[in-house]
Amino acid sequence: MLFNKKNISYELDQDNIPGHIAFIMDGNGRWAKKRKMPRTYGHHEGTKTIRKIALEANRLGVKAMTVYAFSTENFKRDINEVNYIFKLPKEFFDLYLKELIENNVQLRYIGHLEMAPKETRDIIEKAISQTSQNTGLILTFAFIYGGRDEIVETTKELCQQCLDGKISVDNINEDYFEKHLMTTDLPPVDLMIRTSGEYRLSNFMLWQLAYAEFVFTDIHWPAFDETELHRCIAIYQGRERRFGGVLK
Ligand code: IPE
Ligand code: IPE
Ligand code: MG
Repeated sequence: MLFNKKNISYELDQDNIPGHIAFIMDGNGRWAKKRKMPRTYGHHEGTKTIRKIALEANRLGVKAMTVYAFSTENFKRDINEVNYIFKLPKEFFDLYLKELIENNVQLRYIGHLEMAPKETRDIIEKAISQTSQNTGLILTFAFIYGGRDEIVETTKELCQQCLDGKISVDNINEDYFEKHLMTTDLPPVDLMIRTSGEYRLSNFMLWQLAYAEFVFTDIHWPAFDETELHRCIAIYQGRERRFGGVLK
């Protein structure tokens, strides 16, 4: 498949499209600052990128896409910025839910939704239930999410199962643990893309990224587009994944 946009084209191997792409959507604030706009404007524009990239990923046949929208550490930010981000799901779903449904996209979330304001919670839960039968791209919002927190939550749940006598310690293995993570039922993450030039995970999907390929781009999230997605996938397709083994 040959894509040509803005005179740049990337030949993508249709048989090697990543099944699950996880995005650390970074750089909203810097993108806005460059335009002498408030950070919140960057978050607002960033939601348009989520729509654009979800539709393109769906078109390419990607099965799952997870976006890091708010970390457990992002509560350290100014309350006004936090409150603004908590209003974005409503704006996003008011504008795009109908179109996502038309495109067969299924919505999910990972994280502590119970910590979000009721209005935010309700709108996300409604979008999830309205799309639960859809069979296209699974778009998961990591919202009030932290990788360490997820592992601790799962550990607590399994400890409780032991205490209740439902399982014994010997029943716990990697498969069982993984099934009790917030990402249960999602396919393995093949590709992690972080925008905006930072080379770190910032507590994102620590378990799930164990064997994912990482691609970092300097482009800020609001400016990330289909061409850049294709470029990242082309880089992924050039990688040799070994999973600890030796290639023949
Ligand atoms: C990512 O953009 C969005 C969230 C973390 C909610 P940032 O807000 O981190 O933007 P920068 O990194 O400050 O530019
Ligand atoms: C990671 O970005 C969190 C999200 C994209 C939601 P941050 O901007 O919070 O990460 P740090 O602080 O640069 O590590
Ligand atoms: Mg940031």
